[in-house]
Amino acid sequence: MSSQILEQFLTENLEELKTQGLYNVIDPLESPNGPIITINGNILINLSSNNYLGLATDDRLKKAAKDALDQFGVGAGAVRTINGTLKLHLELEEKLAEFKHTEAAIAYQSGFNCNMAAISAVMDKNDAILSDELNHASIIDGCRLSRAKIIRYNHSDMEDLRAKAKAAKESGQYNKLMVITDGVFSMDGDIALLPEIVQIAEEFDLITYVDDAHGSGVLGEGAGTVKHYGLSDKIDFQIGTLSKAIGVVGGYVAGKKNLIDWLKVRSRPFLFSTSLTPADVAASKRAIEILMESTELNQKLWENGNYLKQGLKGLGFNIGNSETPITPCIIGEEKLAQQFSKRLIEEGVYAKAIVFPTVPKGTGRVRNMPTAAHTKAMLDEAISIYEKVGKELGII
Ligand SMILES: Cc1ncc(COP(=O)(O)O)c(C=O)c1O
Repeated sequence: MSSQILEQFLTENLEELKTQGLYNVIDPLESPNGPIITINGNILINLSSNNYLGLATDDRLKKAAKDALDQFGVGAGAVRTINGTLKLHLELEEKLAEFKHTEAAIAYQSGFNCNMAAISAVMDKNDAILSDELNHASIIDGCRLSRAKIIRYNHSDMEDLRAKAKAAKESGQYNKLMVITDGVFSMDGDIALLPEIVQIAEEFDLITYVDDAHGSGVLGEGAGTVKHYGLSDKIDFQIGTLSKAIGVVGGYVAGKKNLIDWLKVRSRPFLFSTSLTPADVAASKRAIEILMESTELNQKLWENGNYLKQGLKGLGFNIGNSETPITPCIIGEEKLAQQFSKRLIEEGVYAKAIVFPTVPKGTGRVRNMPTAAHTKAMLDEAISIYEKVGKELGII
């Protein structure tokens, strides 16, 4: 017999979400996640993936994955510390360190896992973490897991960060202090003010932690936000994901050798969860090589991002303060954002609505993620559909 109390909890809460327009319906893809996708038999221009460089379907990555699969099988067979470390894992980590201009790197099963792993391996209940209020959910959860005091500062507000860092330092209550920020904020596309953050960190002896899930492959000619600002030797933790621009799955931390050595003995997802599959590792390594060999895909991404932004802004959409290819169309009211997305999909553009709790209430939006794989013709068609639906719903 199922629990009455659970049944009541689920029914009430699901109903509530549906009434508020906050219930997210998941549409399965019947095609690869490229610039054009098929959902429910409909062929759509895809503006919703994180496949920034189009590498998720790249033939070179597919070949690397197939070769690794043939040679090493489908699974790594164990956690990294027992005998789930293949030479391939170490090769990937060496490549990541080279890519990030750090002494070493450690790979995890996802970007989300990195934040679960790395924060709590270093911070504990006697410490405090200064965290940007718009940091990603995995950072928030990673901070909670560490049991350190979490001090939120206003988004990219350097005066607020400085004041809170000063107060925390002068309180004498904490052994260690850390500042954590996304490199690129995924819902708005703005870039963290890393030079100012580093300055404040130096002043108050803060450990620096940048989650560059949306900056790697995008900024710094691909190497990320830290490289973009020329701060590679100033940031203690550089987090990245292998699942967005890299096109595969997994995550990593890049930093000094002794930091990575510590994570290898103290970070729980490394110790207690099976390592990345051979195919994922080989494909990720190939992707990093491609990024290091040429900036062609990166340039195409920016070209397409700027083109789409100009088009949507020109039509009168509120695209916020994005400084990267991420292009939100901020609608406001959640139900309208969802209705807008639904109509875009009916007309042939797959651009998903993003609403609370992913973004603050009242800032519902449709977020567009152009990629290097889109053609100008695809973007032109998407812009004309935006115009039609935007006018129909009175948004522009
Ligand atoms: C800032 C940030 N960190 C971590 C993640 C999680 O990465 P992954 O999908 O590899 O788990 C994301 C993904 O949305 C992200 O935006």
